[in-house]
Amino acid sequence: MNPLPERVRLVEVGPRDGLQNENQPVPTATKVELIRRLGRAGLRTIEATAFVSPRWVPQMADNAAVMAAIERLPGASYSVLTPNLKGFEAALAAGATEVAVFAAASEAFSQRNTNCSIAASLERFRPVVEAARAANVRVRGYVSCALGCPYEGTVAPGRVRDVAGALFDAGCYEISLCDTIGVGTPGATQGMIACVAERVPVTQLAGHYHDTYGMAIANIYASLQMGVGVFDSSVAGLGGCPYAVGASGNVATEDVVYLMRGLGIETGVDLEALMDCAEWISAALGRRPGARVTQARRGSGFIGSRSTEVEPTG
Ligand code: HMG
Ligand code: MG
Repeated sequence: MNPLPERVRLVEVGPRDGLQNENQPVPTATKVELIRRLGRAGLRTIEATAFVSPRWVPQMADNAAVMAAIERLPGASYSVLTPNLKGFEAALAAGATEVAVFAAASEAFSQRNTNCSIAASLERFRPVVEAARAANVRVRGYVSCALGCPYEGTVAPGRVRDVAGALFDAGCYEISLCDTIGVGTPGATQGMIACVAERVPVTQLAGHYHDTYGMAIANIYASLQMGVGVFDSSVAGLGGCPYAVGASGNVATEDVVYLMRGLGIETGVDLEALMDCAEWISAALGRRPGARVTQARRGSGFIGSRSTEVEPTG
């Protein structure tokens, strides 16, 4: 096991992974305000929107308007999803300085999510990465279904390793390993990371764990033990994937920040400001915040609520 890091980087994906799955239309102004509040809470990598086909994901159709209106804090990165060159060119025109490409370790998911095979998706990313390099834009890579597929079930770690390796070789600076449907457990997560690390240095890996089975926090801890120091999360646990029906949102950012505080690991995030943000966006969407930490601290009658504050300890 690796020693735990002193600091981790959190990639906030709520405005994209969270809001892409909303059934109700979310006003552009709400998205812009969410990004502002996340930045003010200390998040410095925020996935702002996606330049995907508006016919496939209508919730992201206002991508350029979002990019035009967001507050851009110094030192912060506002990345966007780009599935192809058309998306990249639109993202660049909208002022993106970081983009993400997304492939899958499962053929069936690749077809449903991007209408092409894994090999074809990797080919499609090649010109995106080249154009990004020419424009001085950083490219991150996602590998979906790293711990299971909604259509194929079990996914062999070797397939995750091969796709992650191909994205890394193509020029992605970091590869985010995604438990798209939140089925992973710590042993499987560590086995998958060990396998991927044969091709991609563990320092260039990130964990992106949806929380369907409530295992995401355990999987993050297991990943920390393997040397992973970057985690994707979504404020209030918003979201899911339109092509993985029934999968819940990403692990909630508040829960990750609480875990890291307890471990003495710096995130740069102000938990109180983050919980304010979680309560605000949850109210705007008409629901309770999904994070256990926010429910415990802000709900009435729970242990650790403001009146009986308990500091987390290791
Ligand atoms: P396609 O239909 O095969 O594309 O979709 P096409 O190249 O044949 O083009 C068809 C039409 O779409 C054309 O328009 C294109 O111009 C247009 P028409 O001539 O018919 O009017 N088009 C676009 N429009 C805007 N932006 C673009 C774009 N590209 C083509 N970039 C495509 C292929 C990849 C575009 C489509 O499948 C798509 O947009 N997929 C994205 C699906 C998606 O966003 N899924 C959710 C995000 S991924 C995720 O959540 C997983 C993640 O969180 C990790 C995890 O948890 O696993 C990242
Ligand atoms: Mg996701």
